[in-house]
Amino acid sequence: MTRQLVGTSLKMNFTAAEARTYFRTLVPLVDDIRDRDLFVLPPFTALWVAREELAGTAIAWGAQDVHESLSGAHTGDISAPMLVDLGCRYAEVGHSERRRDHGERDGRIARKVATAIGCGLDVVLCVGESREMRTRLATTVVLRHLDGALGARPAAELDRVVVAYEPYWAIGAGASPAPLDHVSGVQRAVRAWLLERGCATPRVVYGGSVSLDNAGDLLALPDVDGVFVGRAALDPLVFARIAHTGLPPG
Ligand code: PGA
Repeated sequence: MTRQLVGTSLKMNFTAAEARTYFRTLVPLVDDIRDRDLFVLPPFTALWVAREELAGTAIAWGAQDVHESLSGAHTGDISAPMLVDLGCRYAEVGHSERRRDHGERDGRIARKVATAIGCGLDVVLCVGESREMRTRLATTVVLRHLDGALGARPAAELDRVVVAYEPYWAIGAGASPAPLDHVSGVQRAVRAWLLERGCATPRVVYGGSVSLDNAGDLLALPDVDGVFVGRAALDPLVFARIAHTGLPPG
């Protein structure tokens, strides 16, 4: 069975000093967790703090975005070699807020995935339908995102990707998580897509209004290999409790 993943993106929150406090609070709260993998994606400006504070811990870390080119005239952007040089394990690609704020589309997302994996990063690829719709239609939209972003990747590279199923309408303040049967239905199809293309260990996590209230139900679903947490994880105590959800006391 795939090890479950519990991760968070801190999005555009926390100065370097605040991120240090966050990590120092979080690390001792989760150091007993052996059976799940954890990751944190701080803003670029706090990656160096993650390197200092998370060294020697079981918490992996990485960036919330990466440019598709290796270097060059791309003002304000950050390349995969720069992230590798810092020690990042992960690069997140394709989050709906990047699509919304930066106009990112599937073609560009596919190039980012290829570059990140080519440089040795693991990718957290976000996919999801943009408005509420029936599960069958949402599945079609999500599989189209997968075709666009991963269709050209060889099987071995698919094992370097965590797919985060994040229906846009379930993300952010005021939103509610997708119903469990909807999550199951879409994620089952994502897993099948990955397996059909030769992925040996598909990892498909759910994101969108994950909280202490719903993490247990989500993590118990057969096709959910973990959760990707936004707002709720800005409190390291809550993130630690979500990370422990459903694990035997211990
Ligand atoms: P949220 O964010 O938990 O605040 O809804 C989820 C995400 O964007 O991954």
